[in-house]
Parts: sequence; C-alpha cells; structure tokens
Amino acid sequence: MLKHLKLTNIGPADTELEFGKRLNLITGDNGLGKSFLMDIAWWSMTRKWPAEINPKLTSGKKALPRGDGDAKIDFSFTGKSRSVEYISTYARRDEAWTGQQGRPANPGLVIYAMADGGFAVWDPARNYWRTQGGVDVQDRPSAYVFSPTEVWDGLPGTEGNWLCNGLIRDWAGWQKESGTAFKNLCAVLDVLSPDTAEKLLPGELTRISLDDVRDMPTVRMPYGKDVAVMHASSGMRRVIALAYFLVWCWEEHQKAAKLLSEPTTNQVVFLIDEVESHLHPKWQRRIIPALLNVTQSLIAGAEVQLLAVTHSPLVMASVEPRFDEAVDAWFDLDLVAAQSGQQPTVEFKKRPFVRLGDASRWLMSEAFDLGSARSLESELVLQEAAEILSEQEIDHAKAKALDARLRGLLGDTDPFWIRWRYVGEKQGWLR
Ligand SMILES: Nc1ncnc2c1ncn2[C@@H]1O[C@H](COP(=O)(O)OP(=O)(O)OP(=O)(O)O)[C@@H](O)[C@H]1O
Ligand SMILES: [Mg+2]
Repeated sequence: MLKHLKLTNIGPADTELEFGKRLNLITGDNGLGKSFLMDIAWWSMTRKWPAEINPKLTSGKKALPRGDGDAKIDFSFTGKSRSVEYISTYARRDEAWTGQQGRPANPGLVIYAMADGGFAVWDPARNYWRTQGGVDVQDRPSAYVFSPTEVWDGLPGTEGNWLCNGLIRDWAGWQKESGTAFKNLCAVLDVLSPDTAEKLLPGELTRISLDDVRDMPTVRMPYGKDVAVMHASSGMRRVIALAYFLVWCWEEHQKAAKLLSEPTTNQVVFLIDEVESHLHPKWQRRIIPALLNVTQSLIAGAEVQLLAVTHSPLVMASVEPRFDEAVDAWFDLDLVAAQSGQQPTVEFKKRPFVRLGDASRWLMSEAFDLGSARSLESELVLQEAAEILSEQEIDHAKAKALDARLRGLLGDTDPFWIRWRYVGEKQGWLR
C-alpha cells in the first residue's frame, strides 16, 4: 500500500502526502496535476513510467523536473513485513530517476485505469527482474501496459508472443469454458452494474463481420437485445473493460503464483483516473462503493487501497456513508492567488472530509469551488438581486428591471422567488 509521497521540483507543485489505507479521493481543476500524481503513484510502486513500457500511450510519460536544481521523489509503501522508504533523484545527464535498483519490494498487485481508456498492471508474481552489477537486467516484462485498443484486442509481446489475449478473445473463451473465470467476470459485472434493476449481463456470443473470425461477446441490454461489446456505449465499455481487466489480472496472478509455488497476494492498489468518465449520474453514485466491494468479492480477504481522481460532485456525495478518516483521505488541488506581482501557485491539500449531503453543496465546496450549482448567468443575476435585497432603500425602478431579467433566467418554482416576492410585494415594487 502506498503510504507517503513527497515531490520536490517536479509537476505543478511541491507536495507531501500521507495516503489513507483504503480510499483516497483526488479533486482539483483541470491541469493542476491529478493525473500526474497518479502516474507518480504508479511509478513509485512499480519503478517504470507507463509510456516507457508502452510508447503507444499518450499519457504516463516520464516525469521531468520543473526547474533548475535537484528534483526528488520520496515515497514509502508497505512491503511484505515492514514499511519500505525510497528517495529517488533525477539524474539530468542520464535523463533518469535514480535510486535503489531491482524489483520493487511491493508485494501487491498495482492496477491503473488511465483516463484515456488505457490500463496497466504490475504483478509481483510476473513482473520481476534481476540486478547484475547494480544494473537492472530485464528478463521479464516490467509491467503490462495496455493502450485503449489493446485491452480489447490483445497485448503483443516483443517476440511475436501474446502477453494478453484481450477482452474479446478471453471473454469468449471463458464463456465457452464456463469455469471460474467466467463466473468471476459475471460477478464483477454484477457488482459494477449501474442499477439493481439494470444489470450488466453477458449475452450470447455472436459474429459481427465476415472478416473477423472472433466470437464476439455481447451484453444483454435492458430492452432484451444482445449488443456486441464493441458496439456498447462508452460508459458500458469503460466499465466492461474495467471488469475484464480486474478478472484477467487476478486469473493471471493466480496462475503465475501456482507456477512459482508461491501464495497469491492479498494486497491490491487500484489507481483510477476520472472515475466517473462516461457514466450517467446514477452510475456515478454507485461506482466508488462498487469498486471498494468488487476487489474484495474477487479476492477473498483482499486489502484494497483505491486512489481515485474525480471531477464529479456526485462521486463525492456518494462516499459520505462510508468515508472514515482513519482509513480514507481526500486531497484537493487548488490554484492559490498570490500577492500582487507574483504568479499564482498550485497547492495540494489534504482536506477534512465533512458530509455536505448533496451534490450541489459539493459543487460549492472546496472540492469544486463553484459559486452556485446554477448557470453562470443565473448566478450573476442572483448576486445582483442579493445586493439589492441587502440595501436599506431599494430603488424600485432598478428592482423592476432586475425582476424582468430574473424571469428570463429562473424557473417558476425556483426557491429564490419566495424571498424576492415577499420583499417586493411588501415594499410595493412587485404587484
Ligand atoms: N511528465 C511530466 N513531467 C513533468 N510535469 C508534468 C508531466 N506530465 C504532466 N506534468 C505537469 O502536470 C500538469 C498537468 O497535469 P495533469 O495532466 O495531471 O492535470 P489534471 O489535473 O489531471 O487535469 P485534467 O483534470 O484536465 O485531467 C502539466 O501542466 C505539467 O505541469
Ligand atoms: Mg487528468
């Protein structure tokens, strides 16, 4: 489990973070470094940048120093029996992050769902390497990193081999075999479904083209039709890919552990960027609780640490019943205005988690910093109205003009009307 991270002279801001053992939520405006933090978290646990392993990725590039001087990544995680601490510095001449060589001491699976639909996994049973004379000798893949299409069509190795068959072939194979892998896939799809009434259910295998010999998995739609997985909606494909990837990682880990005659791991670190991506609000409300449950349902007794980036106020509201300061944490990135003449700075803060009750209050919280959950135009006109209402002597002509603008922007049932009408009728500028 990732415990601690300290960044010096890299990314938008220097920061030091203590992670929760279970759920870690990350919020902040566009471009402040949330995905970057996920890349750093992945690297800390695996020691390879995702795009270094798979150049087809458009994100997950090696972190570069922000300015002159030393750049450092300090991190610690829970090893098999104790906490392991590292300090890595950037060697500019080698364009590399230096530090302890060899296989990371991390004993758990690290799974990364990237924002663009790519996935990566580091498996302690499969991704190991040797060190000779202080240099890493890479005799095995250092992690499995998939571009968005490779998750579906398979991940090729470097010597004409296949590292992963991909969702389409594996799902079809598992379904025909009707063994544990398919049972697990169905169970994971069930937990990750959008609704108790709208379950993600595998349908019959099908063919979609004369020129594609693969048996194509389908999902049974609520309206009774089976739709080929590649034709499923973006939201469904995101969750289907996630479900498949979790099952594949666990299947392969079990097989590798058996070959090595080692016990399987019970630790999983799960990094997920833009967790609500493509999901309808009703799905957004279920996704984090479902992700916390799903790994435990797949791996009995697993300890799961989840790091999730979100732009969704509903996701924040959805964790209120479960959030526990002892094991969970919320981090927020903000652009902080500087004193005059200086640049604003990016700040990374661990915020106390307070239950706010609903999504619009989350929108107006420090997580999203909006003035209201309304349109920008309505927010501005309501600010003017609030100013008028606070005046001792209300200018009737001004109030009438504003009333006309308010009518053009607010709905008839808007709660604001109650106060506005009360004051207006009492003072006589509304009749
Ligand atoms: N490989 C890298 N090396 C150094 N800095 C980087 C690297 N990748 C990203 N950054 C820094 O992180 C910033 C963008 O961060 P990132 O993509 O993490 O934003 P984000 O918070 O995820 O935004 P969004 O919500 O739009 O996804 C860049 O402006 C840059 O300063
Ligand atoms: Mg991002």
